[in-house]
Amino acid sequence: MAQRAQDHVDGPRLTASLAALARFGGREDGGVSRQTLTEIDLAARRHLVAQARALGCEVRIDDCANLFFRRPGREDLPPVLTGSHADTQPVGGKYDGAYGVLAGLEVIAALNAAGIETLRPIEVVSWTNEEGSRFGPGTMGSSAFAEPARLATYRESVDQAGIRFGDALDAALAASDDVTRVPMARPMAACVELHIEQGPVLEAAAVPLGVVTGIQAVRWFRVECAGTMAHAGTTPMAVRRDAMAVAVAIAQDLYALAPRAAAGSGDAGQPGAAELRLTLGQWTVAPNSVNTIPGKVTFTVDMRCLDDAMLDRAEAALRLACTRHAPATDVVVTRFFHRGPTYFPEAMLASVQRACERASEVAGRGAPVRLTSGAFHDAMYVADLCPTAMIFVPSKGGISHNAAEDTDAADLVLGARALAYTVAELACRQP
Ligand code: GLV
Ligand code: MN
Ligand code: MN
Repeated sequence: MAQRAQDHVDGPRLTASLAALARFGGREDGGVSRQTLTEIDLAARRHLVAQARALGCEVRIDDCANLFFRRPGREDLPPVLTGSHADTQPVGGKYDGAYGVLAGLEVIAALNAAGIETLRPIEVVSWTNEEGSRFGPGTMGSSAFAEPARLATYRESVDQAGIRFGDALDAALAASDDVTRVPMARPMAACVELHIEQGPVLEAAAVPLGVVTGIQAVRWFRVECAGTMAHAGTTPMAVRRDAMAVAVAIAQDLYALAPRAAAGSGDAGQPGAAELRLTLGQWTVAPNSVNTIPGKVTFTVDMRCLDDAMLDRAEAALRLACTRHAPATDVVVTRFFHRGPTYFPEAMLASVQRACERASEVAGRGAPVRLTSGAFHDAMYVADLCPTAMIFVPSKGGISHNAAEDTDAADLVLGARALAYTVAELACRQP
């Protein structure tokens, strides 16, 4: 049955469905800009709802506006969950997240076409705000689903225009009043998320499918540096209280922790996998004027490593740098996201491995490899609720969070075949 589901995945149908969703927020450079809960994202959600209903799915939504597309099983057992997210970075690609959601719907289309009835229901989820670029932190929808108490804090998160996540969420929920509301933290039998790798490992290994063993740890910080706005031409250097000078000094201390020369360290299969990765991606400067000394500079720090102890040391170094370069009252550090490393259970890896092996073999392609994920994913929080795993397909040039993000159509189809096999097998498993 799992093989039949896999063989009924339809390449052209999946390709067309990826292209159709990419039009929501599509950019001239080929990328997609569809940040969470914007008008464009809400339109994309309506499109997904219509697509799921056309496949015969019941559509449901929870308090964090996570959308669930449900194909019933023979029995009303806890469902098998698959899917990902439909929001993108400010400048993102067509596949980061969208691929997992649409491949999930393709699995349902394949099961319908093959006339397969599963024991358990299957639900395809489109999680809210995985990216975290508009409202921090990332993986809001999936982490709130896993632990609903998190939602109250998330509701207070504010975007750069001053809009509260809670208000954007309420508007999205009001626009979905024709959709049944379901509780969060519902029991799930298992979860498999399919995603593009977003890194260079599969391409370098020249294999189309990866069995993801886990996800590296991540911490996000906001660093707010205070100064005094003053005239750029008249204020002597000795008396300035320059917020940018403090921010730059802290940034230099941080970059010294993660030298580019360290790249290449780590295990042989995944160069650099064990290194500290550091990104200072979002800066706001007030008043942001060429001839005024900055009165306030706020920047974010994204730290990642497989080894959480490395992040303990990096966090301590960040806090030390803040006290080294300014009086304590002038710098405020807030950690607003942290998650230790995630390891998927071996039984789930074995399921995914079987599916990937069969899909690769039928297609005459190289056998799957195991790898860890450098990016975080919704699956890391779902893993707290039920046995979870992930499948990766290659990213050309390892590029993602970029309009040029791309994956061969044949690899995208192969990933969907591996997903169909895994989901069908899990959905037919006896309790
Ligand atoms: C997800 O988008 C991440 O930043 O890892
Ligand atoms: Mn993603
Ligand atoms: Mn992303």
